[in-house]
Amino acid sequence: MSSLLVDNIGELVTNGTGEGPLGIRRDAAVLVEEGRVVWVGPSAYAPAADRRLDAGGAAVLPGFVDSHAHLVFAGDRAAEFAARMAGEPYTGGGIRTTVGATRAATDDELRATVRRLRGEALRQGTTTMEIKSGYGLTVADEARSLRIAAESSTETTFLGAHVVPAEYADRPDDYVELVCGPMLAAAAPYAKWVDVFCERGAFDVDHARAILAAGQAAGLGVRIHANQLGPGPGVQLGVELDAASVDHCTHLSDADVDALAGTAHSDGSGTRTVATLLPGAEFSTRSPYPNARRLLDAGVTVALATDCNPGSSYTSSMPFCVALAVREMRMTPAEAVWAATAGGARALRRDDIGVLAPGARADLVVLDAPSYLHLAYRPGVPLIHQVMRNGVTP
Ligand code: NIG
Ligand code: FE
Repeated sequence: MSSLLVDNIGELVTNGTGEGPLGIRRDAAVLVEEGRVVWVGPSAYAPAADRRLDAGGAAVLPGFVDSHAHLVFAGDRAAEFAARMAGEPYTGGGIRTTVGATRAATDDELRATVRRLRGEALRQGTTTMEIKSGYGLTVADEARSLRIAAESSTETTFLGAHVVPAEYADRPDDYVELVCGPMLAAAAPYAKWVDVFCERGAFDVDHARAILAAGQAAGLGVRIHANQLGPGPGVQLGVELDAASVDHCTHLSDADVDALAGTAHSDGSGTRTVATLLPGAEFSTRSPYPNARRLLDAGVTVALATDCNPGSSYTSSMPFCVALAVREMRMTPAEAVWAATAGGARALRRDDIGVLAPGARADLVVLDAPSYLHLAYRPGVPLIHQVMRNGVTP
């Protein structure tokens, strides 16, 4: 059994025991065996190991957990982005453009896009990435989207209810029946989660409830796109169905925040339903950002994710989202880094990632910087010096 010691870490973010909410340790070391962390402590007391990785006094943190991404698609909507920057609003209408391109693509073309974006994210420190379907919207195209997603992640999500495709435009009830029946049956073997875009112009609360309940009955965990473009019932539906995460949360009422706060664990460790904020979407649609402070102050667990997709947020960069969250959503740098690591893990109901403690997966990032603070302090700068996933540097 070969062991690896990462030592000479100037500032180690553990999200476990240590100083402050990030569990910071100084002059620290991490011992890795068989892809797992087996020891964390002062560099001076580090056990011997077969190999050594010298962090050079830099900061080390858990790999980013990006819990919301749409990577299985074809085509490009740069012109739609340019039109928005010239004043056009975002309505989600462009999803159908991507559906057309995705249906026309070969498996290998879709696979190449997923791998390219997954690789891009990995180089920016993302060691876990959720991947959704949702641009196929036929039984065969949703199943193949998830089959391809599952080649790159175990965190796969069936989003057959992204929009009602054009051929069902005048009979949405029939489409919901298809999603709950044959489409779910074909997708479920490759999916861990079910998701619905619950929004005016996409799926209403009754359709969303029927689809999420069908997914739950098929053994999938629930997540939901909620309250992105306007106020609505999505967040409270997510709470009703014990969703792991309600995503976007841009337009929240007091009752929505109370409902999320009401899912708090009794041990003070946060909420069972996480609010996942996606500031790349507000950036790329020039929309007002969600109010992270209001959620945090109410005790709601917050995650940050990229929402990487060709329409509303074509970024795979978690450091960019951290910087946006600090600058635009009034999160402290510590809150944003926690949300992008441990918060993402909570949004996926995982306790083996997002943390550097004995037993956790050896997923970590060595920064080209002395502190995690630099992720927000030096926006747009490639600060990811080295990435380790499962104890291996890819
Ligand atoms: O999360 N909101 C719905 N789905 C995506 C956008 C998809 C698109 O515009 O292609 C989102 O923002
Ligand atoms: Fe999304």
